[in-house]
Amino acid sequence: MKDGKFITLGIETSCDETAAAVTADGRETLSNVIASQIDVHKVFGGVVPEIASRHHLTQINAVMDSALSEAGVSWEDIDLVGATYGPGLVGAVLIGLSTAKAAAYAAAKPFAAVHHIKGHVCASYLSTASPGVPARGLADADAVDLASAGRSLPEDEGGAAVAAMPTIEPPHLALVVSGGHTDLIDVRSYTDYVLLGHTRDDAVGEAFDKVARSLGLGYPGGPKVDELAKNGDPTAVKFKRVYLEEGSLDFSFSGIKTGVLNYINTERQAGREVNLADVAAGFEASATDVIETKTRLALRRAGRKKLTMGGGVAANSMLRSRIAAVCMEERVELYAPPPVYCTDNAAMIACAAYYQYLCEGSSSLDIDAYASLPL
Ligand code: KG4
Ligand code: ZN
Repeated sequence: MKDGKFITLGIETSCDETAAAVTADGRETLSNVIASQIDVHKVFGGVVPEIASRHHLTQINAVMDSALSEAGVSWEDIDLVGATYGPGLVGAVLIGLSTAKAAAYAAAKPFAAVHHIKGHVCASYLSTASPGVPARGLADADAVDLASAGRSLPEDEGGAAVAAMPTIEPPHLALVVSGGHTDLIDVRSYTDYVLLGHTRDDAVGEAFDKVARSLGLGYPGGPKVDELAKNGDPTAVKFKRVYLEEGSLDFSFSGIKTGVLNYINTERQAGREVNLADVAAGFEASATDVIETKTRLALRRAGRKKLTMGGGVAANSMLRSRIAAVCMEERVELYAPPPVYCTDNAAMIACAAYYQYLCEGSSSLDIDAYASLPL
């Protein structure tokens, strides 16, 4: 405890970010340290699992120490250690999980093993007023501004004047769109998550990364497609929208990469110049149309009036503004964290660990790391 607040240390290593963070009373972000491995994997055009694990191993202790010192807390202040135990690259998950278990054991603190996707949901509960991260506004109008700009509201534009601590509590709907997942989740309580729809093949982030590769944009693809698409016409090239059966809340994105590749090849063979920005915008529009339609359907079906969005693709400008528009139309409150809390981070894991521990108690130190894990 520090200043009467419950202090959680969170650790996240499920993919290519080595991250540690400290939260107070679950939601107040005291530090959020992220060591990205982008430069290491860039040369290979994607994440190399074995290299990711090795880098987590060399980084994790320093990242954890920075998270504690930036938060101004010591081991005595820590009340709980939480870490991702899956889903993710199993060797990568294992590094953070083992570190967290060892640290909790050595310091005689309780431990909570967190599902990575629950972390992405909890990202919307976090304060964003921690050092280096601007506060966010939560009023409807602000949400649209934030979303259309694809960023959080800077303090000089009134970001700090509006609530920095989101008041959202379950029940609500959650849209999680990342490199490994495309999920619509009915969050009934802090521990009761019901999966309403998920991808049957590629996750939307995977589609972004594959399309980026076929456009020659390199890794990581999502942010590059996002930037390029801003200069393109989303109606110039129309790609297929896959909705699956009538009323289904599931997704399918595996065909889209082939669609983009076929288009590029056909155009080039015909001697026509390909406008890459139009292709990026056309792809984004097709993925966004499907996500928008199914999110609206899920909101209506579950009868929820609050929506959180999280996962790396929730940083996407077009998706943010379109989901914000859906929420305005459906009179639903939208909680969309700034991009740094959409992509992998440990503050979201600390927040999820806090609620899990309060509701269900600590996890066993025997727990394993998992590549896939049901919600
Ligand atoms: O949540 P995340 O950091 O890791 C996983 O749990 O998968 O998500 C990473 C994914 C990658 O596919 C990346 O290309 C995508 O999120 N991404 C984006 C953007 N920023 C990250 N996709 C579209 N637009 C973005 N701005
Ligand atoms: Zn993630």
